[in-house]
Amino acid sequence: VKRDLVSVDDLSNAEIVALFRTVDEMIARPREWTHLAPGTILASLFYEPSTRTRLSFEAAMHRLGGGVVSAADMRSSSASKGESLADTVRVVGGAYADLLVLRHPAEGAARVAARYASVPVVNAGDGSHEHPTQTICDLYSLHAEKGGIEGLDVVLSGDLKYSRTVHSFAYALARFRANVVLIPHRGFEMPEYVIRRLRERCGNEPQRLEADDFRSIAGSADAVYFTPQRPHQLSLFTEADRVAISKLDALYVTRPQRERFLEGESAPSVRIDREALSGARFKDTFVMHPLPRVNEISYDLDQDPRSLYFKQAARGVPVRMALLAFLLGRVDLGAAPPPPELSSERVRGRLGMGCPNATCITTLESNYLEPEFLVDSRAPFAASCAFCETSVVPVLVGCASTRVFHRHNSSDVRRIKAEHLVLFASEEQARGSGFAAAARP
Ligand code: NCD
Repeated sequence: VKRDLVSVDDLSNAEIVALFRTVDEMIARPREWTHLAPGTILASLFYEPSTRTRLSFEAAMHRLGGGVVSAADMRSSSASKGESLADTVRVVGGAYADLLVLRHPAEGAARVAARYASVPVVNAGDGSHEHPTQTICDLYSLHAEKGGIEGLDVVLSGDLKYSRTVHSFAYALARFRANVVLIPHRGFEMPEYVIRRLRERCGNEPQRLEADDFRSIAGSADAVYFTPQRPHQLSLFTEADRVAISKLDALYVTRPQRERFLEGESAPSVRIDREALSGARFKDTFVMHPLPRVNEISYDLDQDPRSLYFKQAARGVPVRMALLAFLLGRVDLGAAPPPPELSSERVRGRLGMGCPNATCITTLESNYLEPEFLVDSRAPFAASCAFCETSVVPVLVGCASTRVFHRHNSSDVRRIKAEHLVLFASEEQARGSGFAAAARP
């Protein structure tokens, strides 16, 4: 079976650690790997701007001895004539290329591409959702500089709502048992689905932290503190429920993702400079950024030994060499893949509501993609989009067999068979689909 990299959770911890050893070798001898993928072609399909991500993927493929075909601006491709993502990847993946690297403005686009393409698909950023290869670069950098990830105290700051890089990074940090502190700009908090996934899949439980400690970094923004649920002796602060941070290992800064802002949203201008990092707790704090930076990091930090952002970017090539070689089956990491996901119940089909996220790929390409939800809880009923992960609480839940609907928090919802579940955003929608209210007993 092919391996895709849509989410950072598509790689196991053991694979990531083994991958890091491969990256070390590639950094030591960068020009000695052209035997790994000769005659193999990578296609980059970029529906959004990129400098580092696309060029580092393409440089990596050349260093492995392979070739590259590139649609660097999909606006000049058939997408502008209305071709669907599914059709594009079906043709390019297979007939033209052995692996696809996709960047797309819609959340869930990489999941769709992975389903329709016969070759491995790498997510190079899908809307505000995930950016797993950036995370492997970030994690590798932190690992290389600090000698490990477990127990590190890492602050994720800025636009945590739309920054796909911090979503993937948070999952990975949590899985490697780092302590994650969130300092969002007000109004740009981590999405609920990310918090939920950190808690349920990565075993990290949020705790509140006094924000005052971070005033010098991010004004009075709220902070949420995550700490591993099963404390390990090396991880810090696991007993405390309120924690004052006395040292920080890394501060991850993000660019306000203005291109994704809704009407009326505006980001505060916060700028990290040497002055802001002069306190004792920042003595060994690495400043990280996925780049491009706009105003978030002062240029006076560039020469500071704590600045990591250019090193992160430089490591993009060897990290992507290792990833590509692995996904193409040219290196054996000798590590077990992630265990198959516990299959949660799925609600599929055109009856009822669609994904409420206006920039989900199922909303934008609804002519062939059907809404699909994973059931997160039966009582009260809660679900999430199978593509963009947006949390969904329908107003009503119906049974397709009896054509009866219930309030989402009714205990009757528990009895509906999974294959009969239908989600409605309103009573009007339910009645319009021929469903009626459950008779009162
Ligand atoms: C990031 C992205 O595209 O999400 N850039 C990158 O890939 N290094 C971050 C950003 O654009 O702010």
